[in-house]
Amino acid sequence: MDLFEYQARDVFEKHGVPVLGGVVATTPEEARAAAERLGGGTVVVKAQVKTGGRGKAGGVKLAHSPQEAEDRAREILGMDIKGHTVHRVMVAEGARIAEEYYFSVLLDRAERRYLAMASVEGGVEIEQLAVERPEALARVAVDPLVGIDEAKAREIVEAAGFADDVKDAVVEAIQKLWTVYDAEDATLVEVNPLVRTEDGRVIALDGKVTLDANADFRHPDHAELEDAAAADPLEAKAKEHDLNYVKLDGSVGIIGNGAGLVMSTLDVVAYAGEAHGGVRPANFLDIGGGASAEVMAAGLDVILGDEQVKSVFVNVFGGITACDAVANGIVKALEILGDHATKPLVVRLDGNNVAEGRAILREANHPLVTLADTMDGGADKAAELAHAAA
Ligand SMILES: Nc1ncnc2c1ncn2[C@@H]1O[C@H](COP(=O)(O)OP(=O)(O)OP(=O)(O)O)[C@@H](O)[C@H]1O
Ligand SMILES: [Mg+2]
Repeated sequence: MDLFEYQARDVFEKHGVPVLGGVVATTPEEARAAAERLGGGTVVVKAQVKTGGRGKAGGVKLAHSPQEAEDRAREILGMDIKGHTVHRVMVAEGARIAEEYYFSVLLDRAERRYLAMASVEGGVEIEQLAVERPEALARVAVDPLVGIDEAKAREIVEAAGFADDVKDAVVEAIQKLWTVYDAEDATLVEVNPLVRTEDGRVIALDGKVTLDANADFRHPDHAELEDAAAADPLEAKAKEHDLNYVKLDGSVGIIGNGAGLVMSTLDVVAYAGEAHGGVRPANFLDIGGGASAEVMAAGLDVILGDEQVKSVFVNVFGGITACDAVANGIVKALEILGDHATKPLVVRLDGNNVAEGRAILREANHPLVTLADTMDGGADKAAELAHAAA
């Protein structure tokens, strides 16, 4: 989960990273009040959207009085930045910037460790710097078992070539940023810019934080950081039921067990769809190992809630949860859903107890259900039905 800048600022503050005062506002009047709360001096009004390049797009503006903060907020709220509508701004204390630096720490999956990056040439366009002058961006590997202790922070600061008079302050800031990364189970903490102010302080002026959703169970407080308004309603519903669901653009709903099987089902359906008007998969949905009636019903409910869906392909490989249990699950799920089940269902079962599973479905003889013998055959049938209903 990516945080908004104002949320990152709050998390930084919680762990002792030096930040400036910042107050979030959703209306121009609130922005004015926020500027007053911050002392009535110079502030920066910043669009809160989860995309980069806000400054360039006109989403970061200086204001020298609360009235100006209100006016700038009026301009920025409602703006579209790379497809993201601005619903909030952060009114931040203005800093007198002497220098802008860059720092980040992230998960380096390929190397199975963390990677810290730092540059004394921060600010905007760090991606461009990385490509054009890679030597200006120090890259230092971080051992996950050690983290960024003082020695590692000094190594990073030396590698990036920070001037002597800021070294200690940057070392301290980096260690605090590491605390954020570690304590909050982040996969990215990025500060661009980290600045030196004219009065010699080192402060994080912008923050980008990605939290690792796999660690959510350790952080009940992270739930409130979620942007419920932006979540797709179907994805939110799936999440309530602990289902791994991703909405796609097509019309063939997909249910399978195991991420690998579901991924290949998407491919097979997309391929089969070419012969049926180019229909495509409507979603990724992995119901996991225990394909119980409740889980199957929840999965079907989510998929049938997608108006684009015209047919559903259930592709399950029976393992520990055998095919007869899955078949019973499907039959019960259709009972639970009753009138909500309106789209044709193609079911392909294979694996443990496949004969019993098929027999159960044949016997139930539900008018919406078609049995398929193979994955290719099932995909083809589901694509054909979706095309016919379009
Ligand atoms: N509180 C502040 N006081 C003074 N100047 C600021 C402040 N916040 C940001 N700035 C200036 O505005 C520039 C852009 O701000 P910021 O880094 O927050 O946005 P951005 O880089 O455009 O957005 P993103 O990081 O999403 O790409 C900074 O590099 C800095 O020069
Ligand atoms: Mg920035």
